[in-house]
Amino acid sequence: MSKSEIGLIGLGTMGAMLSLNIAEKGFAISVFNRTTSRTSEFHAEAGELAEQITPCDTLEDLVASIAEPRAIILMVPAGRAVDEQIAALRPLLGKDDLIIDAGNANFRDTEARAAQAEADGVPFLGIGVSGGEEGARHGPSIMGGGRKKAWDQVSYILTAIAADYEGTACATWMGQGGAGHFVKAVHNGIEYADMQMIAEIYGILRDGQGADAATCAEAFDTWNKGPLQSYLIEISGKVAAATDPATGNAVLDIILDRAGQKGTGRWTVIEAQHLGAPIPVIEAAVAARNLSAMKSERERGEATFGAAPVPLPAGALGRDDLEQALIAGKIMCYAQGFHLLNSASAEFGWNLPMPEIARVWREGCIIRSTMLNDMAEALTAAPQDNLMFAPFFAKMIDENTPALRKVVAIAVSHGLQVPALAAGLSYYDAMRTGRSTANMIQAQRDFFGAHSFERVDKEGAHHGPWGS
Ligand code: 6PG
Repeated sequence: MSKSEIGLIGLGTMGAMLSLNIAEKGFAISVFNRTTSRTSEFHAEAGELAEQITPCDTLEDLVASIAEPRAIILMVPAGRAVDEQIAALRPLLGKDDLIIDAGNANFRDTEARAAQAEADGVPFLGIGVSGGEEGARHGPSIMGGGRKKAWDQVSYILTAIAADYEGTACATWMGQGGAGHFVKAVHNGIEYADMQMIAEIYGILRDGQGADAATCAEAFDTWNKGPLQSYLIEISGKVAAATDPATGNAVLDIILDRAGQKGTGRWTVIEAQHLGAPIPVIEAAVAARNLSAMKSERERGEATFGAAPVPLPAGALGRDDLEQALIAGKIMCYAQGFHLLNSASAEFGWNLPMPEIARVWREGCIIRSTMLNDMAEALTAAPQDNLMFAPFFAKMIDENTPALRKVVAIAVSHGLQVPALAAGLSYYDAMRTGRSTANMIQAQRDFFGAHSFERVDKEGAHHGPWGS
């Protein structure tokens, strides 16, 4: 029997879809799942692709069925399960056999696993895979990390299964160790922020303007034809248009306003804090999710202080204002995300390929959008520069921030929450304030802790005349 080209462990939704994708692209694949009934069930449901798939009931069978040097993808829940799987698998493998963790790992775990693999002299890759179920099945965006040699060993498979943007595969090696998972975390941080800003605009439509879900759907559909064209705007239109079969009501209206999270957005914020990289739009989005979870406290607050959202006066904000505010907010968010990537690249010595990151995000992933192609071009011209200063985006910022200011000001003055959009506006203002108020902070620090300050008129460290 001929051997498989690759193996995969973990037939949950993502693992199953990825396996079918790999099989469909013509690669023979062996699969294993801890619950063996799932393996046979998956194989039985694979239809024509079953021929390409070898179901294995034991790790030994899996290893024996793959051609050497082997490559085995892990699609198991991030965290301890990955370490357990590696520990069970490694003793069965040869020195050149490659383990690829394709889950949503914390990049620090990937760094540790890569270092261990280095010490053991065995290859290991940590790859970020974005696109949800549909992406995994038909073409995800893939962000690779680890030894380049290991990436090169399997890149022909990864590029074949990845999404395609006008002939370019959305799969790239980002750098050593945890670089791929770091890029994926930032992708998810941006995902949180894009989603939050859309939700804020939805809130203005619903609570400020009294729009029903169908009207919101129509707004998103319209915006999806303009500069905001993106997967998230597209699906926002679709979810707003959907009807609940049980009640006949708009699905949006029957969904509880308590958002879940698995933690990747939070990791982005934590790492940004470690790096001293300001990402206030993403921070606001993560905080908003945390606040959303505090449903009973919010209800108590509403009973105590009165409901927050007050309808806006007719005509206070037009559709164009809302669209432009989203455009400006989005640019600020991505400027911050890429700045964070640059900071991480310098700190960890990754030499992250900035334009390539924008390129692999153009298709397949959750944040895919037309604007990412413009970002790829801007980052090609100036990879280390803040996106705000790229001429294309500087012009868009000039054109769209007046609406962002108007939307934030009117929303805030009527009790409508726009934390991520407001954070974007505040970042814009901070970034164009040559003389900030941090002189006051420095004076206070020196006063209470003799931390010293720099002067505007002389070099060196100075202290104020505070006395004792
Ligand atoms: C993707 C998604 C994917 C997943 C997130 C959701 O890129 O395909 O980001 O990884 O949907 O984990 O994250 P939360 O549960 O934290 O919202």
